[in-house]
Order: sequence, then C-alpha cells, then structure tokens
Amino acid sequence: MANRIILNMVSHHGKGAIGEIPAIARTKGFKHIFVCSDPDLIKFGVTAKVTDLLDEAKIPYTVYSGIKPNPTIENVKEGVEAFKACGADSIITIGGGSSMDTAKAIGVIITNPEFSDVRSLEGVAPTKNHAVPTIAVPTTAGTAAEVTINYVITDTEKERKFVCVDEHDIPEVAIVDPDMMSSMPKGLTAATGMDALTHAIEGYTTKAAWEMTDMFHL
Ligand SMILES: NC(=O)c1ccc[n+]([C@@H]2O[C@H](COP(=O)([O-])OP(=O)(O)OC[C@H]3O[C@@H](n4cnc5c(N)ncnc54)[C@H](O)[C@@H]3O)[C@@H](O)[C@H]2O)c1
Repeated sequence: MANRIILNMVSHHGKGAIGEIPAIARTKGFKHIFVCSDPDLIKFGVTAKVTDLLDEAKIPYTVYSGIKPNPTIENVKEGVEAFKACGADSIITIGGGSSMDTAKAIGVIITNPEFSDVRSLEGVAPTKNHAVPTIAVPTTAGTAAEVTINYVITDTEKERKFVCVDEHDIPEVAIVDPDMMSSMPKGLTAATGMDALTHAIEGYTTKAAWEMTDMFHL
C-alpha cells in the first residue's frame, strides 16, 4: 500500500527560531509582507517579536490584525481586501489556529479568486494554484495548522464551522519557537496542550498510521 505525506518545504524548531525569518524572507524575495495576526497578540507584544525583526532588517510589511477567534467568512473576505490593498506578495501568519487558518484562506483565495465566496472552499476544493508564499509562526501549541493542509472557518449565517482540506494551503515555512508561546495564560496552555495530546493519541490509534506518522506523533 502506498502512503502519502505532505510537509512544509522547510521548518525551523526551537528557541530563537524566529531569528531565521528575515533571512528566509530575503532568500525568497519577499518585497512586501502581509503580517496576519490577532488583536490580543498585538496587545501582548507577541506579534512584535517578529515585526521587530522585520523592522531591524528593513523589510516592508503591513499588519492585518482583524482576526477573531474561530474566524468567520467575513474575516477572510476582509483579509483578502486588506491583502490586495497593501500590495503584498507574501504572508507571515503569527498566532494560534485562528490567525493561521485565516491566513491560509486568504492566501488560497488570492491565487484562486474563483473561490472568493469562501464557502466553496469547504471540503476538498479543486483549487489550481498554490497559496501566496507563507511563513507560519504558531503562538499556541495545539492546532498544528502550521504543518497541516487543513483550515477551519465559521459560517455565522448558518451557525456552523466548516473544514477545508487543500494541498495548496500548506505554509512553505513553519517556524516553531517556544518563545512565541511563553505568554499564553495557563488556561490556554492547558487547552491547546490537550489539543496537541489528542493529535498524538489519534496518530497512535489510527489505522492509517505508518512509519513516517509514527515518527511525528511519538
Ligand atoms: N487548521 C487546523 O488544522 C485546525 C485544527 C484545530 C483547530 N483549528 C481552529 O483553530 C482555532 C483555535 O486556535 P487556537 O486554539 O490555537 O487559539 P486561537 O488562535 O483562537 O487563539 C485564542 C486566543 O488566545 C490568544 N493567544 C494565542 N496565542 C497566545 C500567546 N502566545 N499569548 C497570549 N495569548 C495568546 C489569542 O490572541 C486569542 O485571543 C479554531 O478556529 C479551530 O477551529 C484549526
């Protein structure tokens, strides 16, 4: 039986990993970066840990912080317009699942505008182009959105969440730095830690496990 695995092109792990971001942005030729984060992360100075590095390196960027927990279709549409308005060519998403999922949807719609209604992305949508080049920097431990091909959007009108699964949305680069998570309050640390534990148990119990997945969930 053949198995499939989809991984980031590059991932950096460990304390100080965010220090790699300016060099990565330069190497990839990013001219203007759309920094996708949320209002609390701006308030607590978590987003600034990365934007300070961009400032030092004189790399142009625009911060979009209109993301709410459990991001909505409206959040995504607003983010798409903000991306277009600032003339960005790349994304750095800084946050938990909410920021990373919104960034994934924005990045996919920019390169596949026929899915601008957002709802049509539900399930396995037949997008043709890879999303905007993206660096994902998680600030919570649980969702693993930085390394998956999934994202979750809330449809407030229909009072439901829907899951999108698309090979074209995986961030090229994941930067997993514990310093980005150290500001989490205890409750969030516990809740997202349980999310990570659940993923690990699922990986252990699923019939779809194989050598490569064992390596990641153990
Ligand atoms: N893409 C996936 O595969 C996947 C998997 C599971 C869940 N999800 C989705 O992810 C979302 C939940 O993501 P989440 O649990 O990571 O939380 P979140 O992104 O919704 O963030 C929750 C709150 O915690 C704050 N926060 C985040 N990091 C912080 C830090 N380091 N310090 C201080 N405050 C911090 C945020 O500002 C926000 O107010 C949901 O929408 C869920 O549906 C996606």
